[in-house]
Amino acid sequence: KLCPVILCGGTGTRLWPLSRRLYPKQFMDLGGHTLFGDTLKRIGVRPDLTPPLVICNKEQRFLAAAQMQEQGLDPTGRVILEPEGRNTAPAIAVAALAALEQNRGGDVLLLVLPSDHVIREDGAFARAVAQAAACAGQGRLVTFGIEPGGPETGYGYIQRGEALATGFAVRRFVEKPRRDAAEAMLAEGGYYWNSGMFLFRASLFLDELRHYASDMFHGAAAAWEGRAEERDFTWLGEAFAACPADSIDYAVMEKTPLAAVVPLDAGWNDLGSWNSVYDAASKDAAANVLVGDVLAEDVSGSYLHSSGRLVAALGVRDLVVVETGDAVLVTSKDRSQEVKNLVARLTRHG
Ligand code: GDD
Ligand code: MG
Repeated sequence: KLCPVILCGGTGTRLWPLSRRLYPKQFMDLGGHTLFGDTLKRIGVRPDLTPPLVICNKEQRFLAAAQMQEQGLDPTGRVILEPEGRNTAPAIAVAALAALEQNRGGDVLLLVLPSDHVIREDGAFARAVAQAAACAGQGRLVTFGIEPGGPETGYGYIQRGEALATGFAVRRFVEKPRRDAAEAMLAEGGYYWNSGMFLFRASLFLDELRHYASDMFHGAAAAWEGRAEERDFTWLGEAFAACPADSIDYAVMEKTPLAAVVPLDAGWNDLGSWNSVYDAASKDAAANVLVGDVLAEDVSGSYLHSSGRLVAALGVRDLVVVETGDAVLVTSKDRSQEVKNLVARLTRHG
């Protein structure tokens, strides 16, 4: 059986001001559903999976547990809490240690799932997971490759290499390239976007992490050793806060020669930035996405979102405007990746 690992400890700062530190985007109500709940639902219908392991910040424990219960999952013993976020590589390392322990040391395949994606076609997703499991069984760290839709700088890029029994070897993995590099890769062809989901043997991931980032491996292992099981949650030890922070993409995937890619064509979308929220939404005749109380005249290609007050716009294009009770964001659509830099300057707004 596969063990799903759900990463939901991100802060979603690029979707500020709707996404907040204490209420990040994966738990936000999107009209009767949340991205985290959608992720649980996607794996809930699959008999070949164990119940998921969920790893998030300790501040988010009640949000995570409540949404698991809503999906009919018992959160007891399945939610691992970080004292502070150290990005995805340490989180996955801890989940790998937890899964191995639950399997009494026997190896286990992990299906790592972020909780900030939209996937429209569950059937196509399930087929790709089955292929990836076969590929991971051959000693690979498997990524899911998306046909790129443009030179986005917020994604990893995967160059397809030789065909394997299932999937392809990865010739090159480039995390979040600069714009010119992204354009060059698209012009060259043969690249996928990295979906951010992974499938591998827990022990193989830990071996590769120990090889390429041994401080991180040891930091995560120390935090796991120092864990406490209390009030139905698994609290990582304070050693976690001293673990170096990095994403799996930089720490392992750019470096390992064992990466493979399985193409995924399942209506995937990352709701990582306002630009991608715009892309994923249906547009009106002027290519606008208008949410809430919005009045627009001679406006095109824009995302205008009101949470309460009227938002009125005239004679503008390719804008993002997001109004909330205490903050309003105005940016051009093609710079929406940089909202996270802005938010870094105003942590007081949490
Ligand atoms: N537990 C935990 N702890 N989860 C985290 C942490 C952390 O410190 N940081 C991020 N996450 C979770 C987020 O909540 C999200 O579900 C997932 O891990 C991925 O993190 P993001 O911060 O959203 O990554 P990204 O979107 O910038 O980049 C990744 O995804 C892209 C596709 O969406 C990379 O894998 C890229 O290569 C990929 O293209
Ligand atoms: Mg993301």
